[in-house]
Amino acid sequence: MAKPPKQQPTSLPPPKSRRSFFAVFAAIVTGAIATLTPLAAGLVTFLSPLLRKSKSPQVRIALLDQVPDDGMPRYFPVVADREDAWNRYPKQRIGAVYLSRQAGEASPIAFTAKCPHAGCQIGYTAGNDVFQCPCHTSVFNLDGTRSRGDKEVSPRDMDQLPVELREIKLADGGAVTEVWVEYIDFQTGHKEKHPTT
Ligand code: FES
Repeated sequence: MAKPPKQQPTSLPPPKSRRSFFAVFAAIVTGAIATLTPLAAGLVTFLSPLLRKSKSPQVRIALLDQVPDDGMPRYFPVVADREDAWNRYPKQRIGAVYLSRQAGEASPIAFTAKCPHAGCQIGYTAGNDVFQCPCHTSVFNLDGTRSRGDKEVSPRDMDQLPVELREIKLADGGAVTEVWVEYIDFQTGHKEKHPTT
């Protein structure tokens, strides 16, 4: 009597079908990498301006001769190129400063005209011995301190800005001195100074 044929074990797929499974899997992974890599690179390029920390601009404000050393504050607009994450806007008015120079002082001091309370423009009338904010009546001395200290509405003194003098040689051999300010825009409403950017 003939023996029945011996049965093959069925737990593993035949070698050929395993090879094709790995080939398909590798093709899917390779395709996914090829698609996602340029997408990720594009996303990083698109978002990188948002991650960049912007610097406070150095701005030429005036000639030193425009700030006589009589202690009286002079008001100057601050004009500079402005940038957001993706665009650059040339020559925009970004704020205003007061420059004042005491008798015998070589360099003026600078205060931003933006009130630390809520951002209104602080006013100064020539000849007065104080600055005044028209919005909520904060009063500041000419050295930027609050006239009534913590009793003023403004939570801090006027914001002083770094000043630099630059000597510029002229074509005729002469020279002028320019006043440059690092225009830092500070957050309002806080006792401490925090730049907005
Ligand atoms: S904004 Fe100046 S006191 Fe309020």
